[in-house]
Amino acid sequence: MGVDEVTTNYGRADLAAALVAAAVRAGADPGALRPEDLEPMEHMHTCGLAATLRLAALAGIGAGARVADVGAGIGGPARTLAHRFGARVTAVDLTPEHVEAAAELDRRVGLGDRIDVVLGDATALPLPDGAFDVVWTQHAAMNIPGKGALYREARRILAPGGRLALFDVMAGPGGPIHLPVPWAGTPGASHLLPPAEVRRLVEAAGFRVRVWQDHTPAAIHFYRQAVARSREGRGVLMDDPVLRFGNLLRNAEEGRVEVVMAIADADGGVP
Ligand SMILES: C[S@@+](CC[C@H](N)C(=O)[O-])C[C@H]1O[C@@H](n2cnc3c(N)ncnc32)[C@H](O)[C@@H]1O
Repeated sequence: MGVDEVTTNYGRADLAAALVAAAVRAGADPGALRPEDLEPMEHMHTCGLAATLRLAALAGIGAGARVADVGAGIGGPARTLAHRFGARVTAVDLTPEHVEAAAELDRRVGLGDRIDVVLGDATALPLPDGAFDVVWTQHAAMNIPGKGALYREARRILAPGGRLALFDVMAGPGGPIHLPVPWAGTPGASHLLPPAEVRRLVEAAGFRVRVWQDHTPAAIHFYRQAVARSREGRGVLMDDPVLRFGNLLRNAEEGRVEVVMAIADADGGVP
């Protein structure tokens, strides 16, 4: 298992070029690309940009907030947090092709000076203690077997008063998932836990859960639309999108996955 299975699932050459080409097909000016030209396509999670905006509101992200985006992908959410909310973002990801694409896209839309892009593992973050107001993680924990280490690292890098903002697919009671799904082509790349177990690990890492919302009904609606869009050939970032979104829709409808958004405040004490 592990790192190779995860990065192989995601790693594709020319992701930045593919995304820019799709934005240009949709009407963007390639000589003056704006963050909002990329936003409809670059949020690699359930409900896309809408979920990022909702999580940002719940997390209370304001101008100057120091945000670490853990498992940042090609950097769509990081760009939205920098561009729309004025945050200063450090975007960390394990997949070299995602890190390269994120840095290139930041540069293309003029956000390179507000976002640092770092290659690294969420369970051993190459970031200093106490340096962030928000640790932000969307749809990366599904690839991470060591979730205890993920949340302990989040706690370690948070400043006093900091918070964890998460949005993830978790295991439902309906049994093992049908594969492939968008985050995994093979069983060794998928690591889902039930929501109660995730919540226990977050609390054990030194957090108090303030918001815990089930977004599964909205997710099912989104997956239906994603299957339809994929059938029309409108997905640019994923191999076999019809099959993968089709399985994800079935997994959600059969209760094999649930989708949770949560905010947890760092406890005052040492975890
Ligand atoms: C489905 S994408 C989500 C990307 C981004 N958070 C978003 O919502 O647009 C999952 C990302 O998690 C990254 N990832 C998986 N395991 C990781 C780990 N252990 N450390 C850091 N990143 C990881 C993958 O490389 C991939 O870019």
